[in-house]
Amino acid sequence: MRLVILDDYELASEWAAKYIRNRIIQFKPSAERYFTLGLPTGSTPFGCYQKLIEYYRSGDLSFKYVKTFNMDEYVGLSRAHPESYHSYMWNNFFKHIDIYPSNAHILDGNAKDLEAECQAYEQKITEAGGIELFVGGIGPDGHIAFNEPGSSLVSRTRVKTLAKDTIVANARFFGNDLSKVPTMSLTVGVGTVMDAKEVMILITGAHKAFALYKAIEEGVNHMWTVSAFQQHPRTIFICDEDATLELRVKTVKYFKEPVRIAIAL
Ligand code: GLP
Repeated sequence: MRLVILDDYELASEWAAKYIRNRIIQFKPSAERYFTLGLPTGSTPFGCYQKLIEYYRSGDLSFKYVKTFNMDEYVGLSRAHPESYHSYMWNNFFKHIDIYPSNAHILDGNAKDLEAECQAYEQKITEAGGIELFVGGIGPDGHIAFNEPGSSLVSRTRVKTLAKDTIVANARFFGNDLSKVPTMSLTVGVGTVMDAKEVMILITGAHKAFALYKAIEEGVNHMWTVSAFQQHPRTIFICDEDATLELRVKTVKYFKEPVRIAIAL
């Protein structure tokens, strides 16, 4: 496991975007060999998407041979609703880059048969050759995607009821009206993300500090589903200084040294 600590949100976003850019470039994607990228929504990855758009515009990066799979989507919220994850991804990322719409996969929370939709999603990931790099975010309660506390750590894509904490946390996107926040979601499972070759989790802000502590300094625990990634062979947690506030000084010192070296390179 790596923990990369940057001074602030902007630097953490830039580091994450450069890492994704470099991975895609090194992979040399082509029509015969697509790069598969798992993606999150939320306020955390916004800065990273902004940077990736910049790299596309400056000609450094193309998404022509990239397939994406988003982590989750609300159930019952129309695709056109400004807070649907479809809207988020198209408005904040996909419409600004050269990805083919058919290569950008997002779960359909309005599918007639939600179970079938989830199974088909797993199938599509398998057919794409699995995920090369899964980028994720977490909630303040340590959930990854919508794998709420108590989720199975070997779960697959499925329907999930949102925890009260998540509804409260996400109410800010719905005019702080709890009754407007959807209560159900479709989400990739912890096991789905664990199958990726590499996992990068973005955690920024003091409100996520306790979750980061639970994620890396305590044991694997299904009440903090992000902690499962301690057992993934290639996980990188990227955070800002604020998110480290609950960590031990020696943890922070240990992980800061390699970042200085990497930045100097
Ligand atoms: C939601 C999403 C998660 C996301 C989390 C954090 O619960 N289901 O995928 O990681 O919010 O969002 P934010 O980055 O806005 O804190």
